[in-house]
Amino acid sequence: MRRDGNELAIEARGVRKRYPSTGAGEPPALNGFELTVARGGVHGLLGPNGSGKTTAVRIMTTLLDLDEGEVQVAGYDVASEGRQVRRQIGLVGQYAAIDEEMSGLQNLMMFGRLSRLSIREARRRAHELLEQFGLAETGSKRVSAYSGGMRRRLDLSVALIVDPQILFVDEPTTGLDPAGRRDVWDAIRTLVRGGTTVLLTTQYLEEADQLADDISMLAHGRVVAGGTPAELKAQVGDDWIELVPRETADIARVAELLAPWASGEIRSAHGRVQLPVLDRTNSLLATASALRDSGIAFEDISIRTPTLDDVFLQLTGSTATDPLADQTAASPA
Ligand SMILES: Nc1ncnc2c1ncn2[C@@H]1O[C@H](COP(=O)(O)OP(=O)(O)O)[C@@H](O)[C@H]1O
Ligand SMILES: [Mg+2]
Repeated sequence: MRRDGNELAIEARGVRKRYPSTGAGEPPALNGFELTVARGGVHGLLGPNGSGKTTAVRIMTTLLDLDEGEVQVAGYDVASEGRQVRRQIGLVGQYAAIDEEMSGLQNLMMFGRLSRLSIREARRRAHELLEQFGLAETGSKRVSAYSGGMRRRLDLSVALIVDPQILFVDEPTTGLDPAGRRDVWDAIRTLVRGGTTVLLTTQYLEEADQLADDISMLAHGRVVAGGTPAELKAQVGDDWIELVPRETADIARVAELLAPWASGEIRSAHGRVQLPVLDRTNSLLATASALRDSGIAFEDISIRTPTLDDVFLQLTGSTATDPLADQTAASPA
């Protein structure tokens, strides 16, 4: 059955999925999962480990049956029209079936042949993809010699051999170093410019912020918030000015002096005062001049804008501590 091209890329309603091995007292992997993805661009499905991202992707790509609910991909129902769904999509999992002993070019040609392209067509497409993902120079080298970022870009190319309308990409940068991660981000941006709709899962707040036009935040098998990165951050509230007086004893006085500029409750803890403000630049200037005459000495004054981490914290009460930040801090110089 053909449908016209105006429909949504993905629509999921009331999806529940419990794995057979899940204990009686444990919650299901997906518990009322709802998702709407428009055509074009990158939609980020953001959530910590175990929140249900891979389960959702496996259901949307017809690899796993759902217990309850309804999912349409490219206008087709995953339960009753699986074959049509599979014709419209590509999937980049965390473990693609790439042969390490073969070159990137050979792998791409093999997958092209498996997708029933002629030898000529498979070769043409392979070279085109190697070029598109910056792998032209290394295309004839064995994959075992590739860096993590190159390897992940090859995974992306393989999924694009038959030019899917909708591409599912499950945690493409987990385990990559910052350079590899940036390469993958560039590759995803490139293919979106070509018109592909990308559903990207990630546990990295910064990645969703950088890449996604729209984000759905997932916690415990349910989408708890959605919108553009800017809309989500606006939900948390205003920008704030953060002041760290040299003497902790001055905190109460600072808070009192700045009260006229507060757009909400002033918080003071851990040696710092947090002043929510509406107009960040003018508020900074006004508070600075009020403080200059006070004689109070400061270690630091800064303006902060809500991050996706703040949004997640507010919605779930737990912080999705960004593993990117940890990694950067832990990596040797
Ligand atoms: N094959 C499986 N069998 C049993 N439980 C699973 C299986 N895969 C995932 N789970 C459980 O389902 C929940 C969601 O997992 P998953 O979808 O893999 O989350 P994520 O991809 O966000 O890390 C977790 O509690 C996980 O332990
Ligand atoms: Mg996963």
